[in-house]
Amino acid sequence: LVKANSERGRLSFTTDLGEGVDGAEAVFIAVGTPTRAEDGHADLTYVFAAVRELAKVLKGPTVVVTKSTVPVGTGDQIAALLEKEGAPAGMSVASNPEFLREGAAIRDFKIPDRIVVGAEDDKAREVLREIYRPLFLNQAPILMTGRRTSELIKYAANAFLAMKISFINEMANLCEAVDADVHDVARGIGLDNRIGPKFLHPGPGYGGSCFPKDTLALLHTAADVGVEQRIVKTVVEVNDDRKNSMADRVAKALGGSVQGKRIAILGLAFKQNTDDMRDAPSIPLVNSLLKQGAIISAYDPVATDNARGLMEGAEFAKDAYAAAKDADALVVVTEWDEFRGLDLERFAQAMSGKLIVDLRNVYNRADAEEAGFSYIGLGRGKIDR
Ligand code: UDX
Repeated sequence: LVKANSERGRLSFTTDLGEGVDGAEAVFIAVGTPTRAEDGHADLTYVFAAVRELAKVLKGPTVVVTKSTVPVGTGDQIAALLEKEGAPAGMSVASNPEFLREGAAIRDFKIPDRIVVGAEDDKAREVLREIYRPLFLNQAPILMTGRRTSELIKYAANAFLAMKISFINEMANLCEAVDADVHDVARGIGLDNRIGPKFLHPGPGYGGSCFPKDTLALLHTAADVGVEQRIVKTVVEVNDDRKNSMADRVAKALGGSVQGKRIAILGLAFKQNTDDMRDAPSIPLVNSLLKQGAIISAYDPVATDNARGLMEGAEFAKDAYAAAKDADALVVVTEWDEFRGLDLERFAQAMSGKLIVDLRNVYNRADAEEAGFSYIGLGRGKIDR
């Protein structure tokens, strides 16, 4: 896409901000808003730095659009800062949150469930409507709302999705105790249109650059204005506990201790199709296993380089079978498609133990048992399905 559109003169890049914004009707700010180390707030340093630079180079009225995920009220601060830093009169500041998933961003952009625009004036609404006209013609709904509301929608969406995941993870725990199947529960509730089938897949806890950071930032926004958000607070706690309990699950499956045991880890990235290790559940899992005396041999199709500095003492293998060599147990942590088609018989031959702990339910019990493994998935009860 970058190559084709650059060649046709529709896309260009520059490190000269003045040149980049010259003649632009809209300027999108899309810098990072990481968690501020001291207090968990969203760190807006990069957003405000961008605004200060913009104020110096904008020549006429422009719509400044915030794509970055920013706390409620940031748009107001941007508007004030533009004025303070001497931007020309007639600026508009709009909020236009992104809902893209890593690894599926282009598809999510082209076929969005919705486009949210938060603006306080007609000009901003008009310019953004025009920008998104091609998607609107493709039936994407556009929700026009106030700027603060739009800023909140992004956090509310991520918190709600995080809640669905924590909900199904707790249901998986219950399924294990009462011999029920969490996938059937997810399907059984997901077919209800009011609930919906997505984000009901159990796992080792959500990670990545958005859910952990945005749930915390939402809690801070709420605390600042003195409003309790007990559900989101619990979601964060449930997820932290989940991530921290995965090592014990592996230890229990190995009879209570991992001391001296060789454990193969399949997948390190926080989810498939990315090399992103931010808040990945593999980090607390591997580090805890190492601390308890395990020998770790890990494999990820693309995230290994990013993982190296985060799990000191782990060995990294060149493929899944190499990771499994002489291992006492195989632990699936990321649901890469390439893991689904692996040869379980070959694993059985390579490994010294015969245990699979599948934290993504990519295998089924019958296949694993046929290859001679004991199989432990998430929320699948004891029943052989
Ligand atoms: C998320 C939002 O989906 C996106 O709209 C927002 O713009 C950014 O944050 P992303 O972090 O890329 O996107 O990944 P996503 O696919 O949402 O997964 C987040 C985490 O939840 C991953 O760790 C994933 O493994 C986990 N997850 C997701 C589950 O455990 N179960 C599910 O059913 C879905």
